[in-house]
Amino acid sequence: MKEMLIRLQQEADKDLAACASEDDIFAVKVRYLGRKEGRITMLLRELGKIPQEERPAVGKLANEIKENLEQRVAQAQSTIHEKRKRDYLAQEKTDVTLPGRKARRGGLHPVTLVLDEVIEIFLTMGFEAVEGPEAELDWYNFGSLNFPNEHPARDMHDTFYLGKEMLLRTHTSPVQIRTMEKQAPPVRIVAPGKVYRCDSDISHTPMFHQLEGLMVEEGISFSDLKGVLTHFLHRVFGEETPIRFRPSFFPFTEPSAEVDIRCAVCRGKGCRVCSQSGWLEILGSGMVHPEVLRIVKYDPEQVSGFAFGMGIERIAMLKFGIDDIRLFYENDQRFLEQFQ
Ligand code: PHE
Repeated sequence: MKEMLIRLQQEADKDLAACASEDDIFAVKVRYLGRKEGRITMLLRELGKIPQEERPAVGKLANEIKENLEQRVAQAQSTIHEKRKRDYLAQEKTDVTLPGRKARRGGLHPVTLVLDEVIEIFLTMGFEAVEGPEAELDWYNFGSLNFPNEHPARDMHDTFYLGKEMLLRTHTSPVQIRTMEKQAPPVRIVAPGKVYRCDSDISHTPMFHQLEGLMVEEGISFSDLKGVLTHFLHRVFGEETPIRFRPSFFPFTEPSAEVDIRCAVCRGKGCRVCSQSGWLEILGSGMVHPEVLRIVKYDPEQVSGFAFGMGIERIAMLKFGIDDIRLFYENDQRFLEQFQ
């Protein structure tokens, strides 16, 4: 029995020495120390069969060998574990002690900032914000707004046509028609969105943003138009800003007015920005033309209204002192960062 034990130990030593992985070590552990069929375990079970007087010595030896083997298995496991860790660290290139890189924080685009502010002012006055399609029918962009066919006013818009009847809307006014077709008066809406004109220089980009406004119900007069727009402009540019209403023409409003604010750059003295006039045009407006009301099946004898439209980039340029509209669309971080 003693000899068998010693041989077992030698074999186990050999097996252990040949181990190359944690799995190999585990297999050796099971082979010799396994609870059911481990070779040492089985041998210990035979202990009862040997003569009584030899038992203590053999038992002691068996236990020593068992404990010794357990110890060495554990040691082999930890050695291989350590080695794996060292290998991993040697090939791992990340230095976790280096300071981290800061995540860049984005911000809202200046056009979005101004749109949000402008819409909010109208929401507090009871207007609702609605949207319309950017690819629009010729009928909604022009015909329904009382632009006669072949009328020179169509040329002023430098339209991008998408086909015979489809175009990229040149203004947000078609949303007036789409809204009135869908609902009966009273109507109080603003319609923000992108518009397109084939034009490009320091004050024009082929795509820009407008905000349309429309208010229609019984008894609306030009003084309502003046009141709402004056309140609005004073909130955006400050109570002190002088405003003037100047006669103008749009096919879908009558009478029509363009609204100017005093030039914020020269404070009215005359400069390059305002072409020496001291005033800056800020929006177009007017009383909804009776013909437009008829087209959407409103009765011009019953209801009246006013409409207005403004360029958002233009307001942003005046508010932030930007002198070239193209800056909004160059995506230069150094420009955009200033609005965070
Ligand atoms: N749609 C006109 C433009 O783009 C502006 C406007 C809107 C004028 C509503 C009057 C009423 O120039």
